[in-house]
Amino acid sequence: MAKVSTTEIRTAVFPVAGRGTRFLPATKASPKEMLPIVDKPLIQYAAEEALAAGARKLVFITGSSKRAIEDHFDSDHELEEALEAQGKRELLKALKDIVPSWASCIYIRQPSPLGLGHAVWCAKPVVGDEPFFVHLADDLIDAPTPCLRQMAEVHAERGGSVLGVETVPRAETDKYGIVATEEREGRISKVKQIVEKPRPSNAPSTLAVVGRYLLSPTIFAKLENTGRGAGGEIQLTDAIADLLSDENVFAYEFEGKRYDCGSKLGYLQATVEYGLKHESLGTKFHDYLRNLASTTLAPKG
Ligand code: UTP
Repeated sequence: MAKVSTTEIRTAVFPVAGRGTRFLPATKASPKEMLPIVDKPLIQYAAEEALAAGARKLVFITGSSKRAIEDHFDSDHELEEALEAQGKRELLKALKDIVPSWASCIYIRQPSPLGLGHAVWCAKPVVGDEPFFVHLADDLIDAPTPCLRQMAEVHAERGGSVLGVETVPRAETDKYGIVATEEREGRISKVKQIVEKPRPSNAPSTLAVVGRYLLSPTIFAKLENTGRGAGGEIQLTDAIADLLSDENVFAYEFEGKRYDCGSKLGYLQATVEYGLKHESLGTKFHDYLRNLASTTLAPKG
């Protein structure tokens, strides 16, 4: 993978300590972030997006049943030697490309799943006093320019913190952090208010924060003082609300299509659409789906 250095955001934090209850029993003993979309786990798409945005330090906030993530990013000499001996060069390359040698992976254990805000706070000792990315791997975004890279460009131009947002149906505002903003300039608007999981009738807008953040390090001081919020968890949204009075926070309507792979339907949609785009499988999968649609899915007459 070629290194891209468009920004100075060097650290990406991946909170992966949630229990993934919506995917039980699949996520009882293995992480939801290891669910594959065609042939790569969600967490690898996440790492690739952060690396393409310039990050060199990948910080995983892990919890129980998450060992597979460490194993995935570690090298496996036995397997590499076996593939070498069998002449399986493409597979060997795919393994070696999982994480480039110039990037480092750091694992921090969140003692218990107290919430996304607490998970981000756990990264404080390794982030230092500089802005950083937060990436939630179950929001998979297919974009012409990787979403975090788009956000780094907004930060380079405007400073402050940047939240990746998209419009959602009003009935679904209670699944997201929702922002109220000043007037939009293109895809960017300044955040005036942010609230976690408001009921549709109370939501200040339908602009939802999805799993992409570029945060100022001031967020750590705010998280120190953030108590339990919605769902009894320490919410990142509440700390961002506190940040608004001190610093600029921008909402950025990213270019790209998001799949909510934390939900079964979103996961299936991503699997089908990435399957159709896949270099070696796409054509055969397209023919299979067309045939399936004309037989199994045909209207009953
Ligand atoms: P979710 O709200 O999607 O929760 O967390 P979850 O546990 O992963 O999944 P469900 O809802 O039970 O199915 C949003 C993100 O925050 C991380 C999760 O791993 C996910 O990436 N998270 C959440 C933590 O790292 N720690 C926590 O304490 C809570």
